[in-house]
Amino acid sequence: MTNDTMITVQQTARPTGFPTPGHFAFVESPVPAPEPGTALVENVLWSVDPYHREAMDSDEIWTLNSPMEGRTLGRVLDSRDPALRPGDLVLHRKGWRTHALVSKDETRPVPDLGPGVPLAAHLSLLGGTGLSAYVGLTRIARLKPGEDLFVSAAAGGVGTAAGRLARLLGAGRLVGSAGSARKVAYLTERVGFDAAFDYHDGPVGELLAKAAPAGLDAVLDGVGGEHLEASIGALRPFGRIAWVGAVGQYHSLSAPPAPRNLFDVVGKSIRLEGFLVSNHTDALEELYELAVPHLRSGALPLDVTVVEGFGNIVEAFLGMLRGENLGKMLVAA
Ligand SMILES: NC(=O)c1ccc[n+]([C@@H]2O[C@H](COP(=O)([O-])OP(=O)(O)OC[C@H]3O[C@@H](n4cnc5c(N)ncnc54)[C@H](OP(=O)(O)O)[C@@H]3O)[C@@H](O)[C@H]2O)c1
Repeated sequence: MTNDTMITVQQTARPTGFPTPGHFAFVESPVPAPEPGTALVENVLWSVDPYHREAMDSDEIWTLNSPMEGRTLGRVLDSRDPALRPGDLVLHRKGWRTHALVSKDETRPVPDLGPGVPLAAHLSLLGGTGLSAYVGLTRIARLKPGEDLFVSAAAGGVGTAAGRLARLLGAGRLVGSAGSARKVAYLTERVGFDAAFDYHDGPVGELLAKAAPAGLDAVLDGVGGEHLEASIGALRPFGRIAWVGAVGQYHSLSAPPAPRNLFDVVGKSIRLEGFLVSNHTDALEELYELAVPHLRSGALPLDVTVVEGFGNIVEAFLGMLRGENLGKMLVAA
């Protein structure tokens, strides 16, 4: 690749089950010159997300053999819009490529929040990932100080953010599930969970009942299926479930058998509510108010796995789906 060449990752085929590198191509093209009202951005940090797996199945979201989209952070190289100046750092959605032409309306400036707040924060704790955790806890589960919380996929981006934010919000007993002993240790030793379990170690309902013997008030579930069933089982009356995702189902070829206890939602007066973070972007300032002072002081570490090199973006994405990430999976140029 020369300085005049950009690379775009394109999906070349729809997967059946788990995707492979063969479903993607790295396509070279000349770096475009900005048109009036646009700027040329060189991307420096990319987010790879579980929803990209859902996008792989949909003609409406990702068209085959076309540039894919995803959240990314880039630096303006050249501009024909005075509102976007060379050197500016911007957040935008034209990820999965080394360069992009963007208009001002397609970007959000990266705020300078001072030392202690690294760029990676804007695609993890202070980005859509952290906002999903914050909104799930505060607006959907309506977590109150002292209440006991279960978080599934707890060692991932949303899960670690949820654990750390729940501690700041004064949560009571904090229980998490994850896919390995290494992740379980990370949750209890580093993130502040009181108990955690590896969901491979037995029926999730039994593992959760053991980790939360006195029951739970709230759940942030990103896995679905058996995890959702276990959550319904462990909640006390008037418990709340913020259902953020179903990563356990995204490449499943059959419908999940669980939750088989859905009717207990009635008997226990549980509130089960799904949500999309895109409907709650107005909560970002609140998240900043809560998290930024602790980031600046060093009391709130970032949980990120950063894969180096744009050429590794497909492997980073597949690795995230396989559970190779601790915290938010990012790719750096
Ligand atoms: N509603 C929204 O607006 C919104 C926004 C952001 C994210 N989400 C959802 O939130 C969840 C977490 O997203 P994230 O970005 O933070 O991803 P993440 O948790 O950082 O990465 C995905 C994780 O899923 C786990 N996983 C994979 N297959 C699994 C399975 N069969 N059963 C249980 N866990 C499995 C893996 O960890 P293990 O090693 O623990 O298996 C992996 O690390 C996803 O469901 C995502 O779709 C929703």
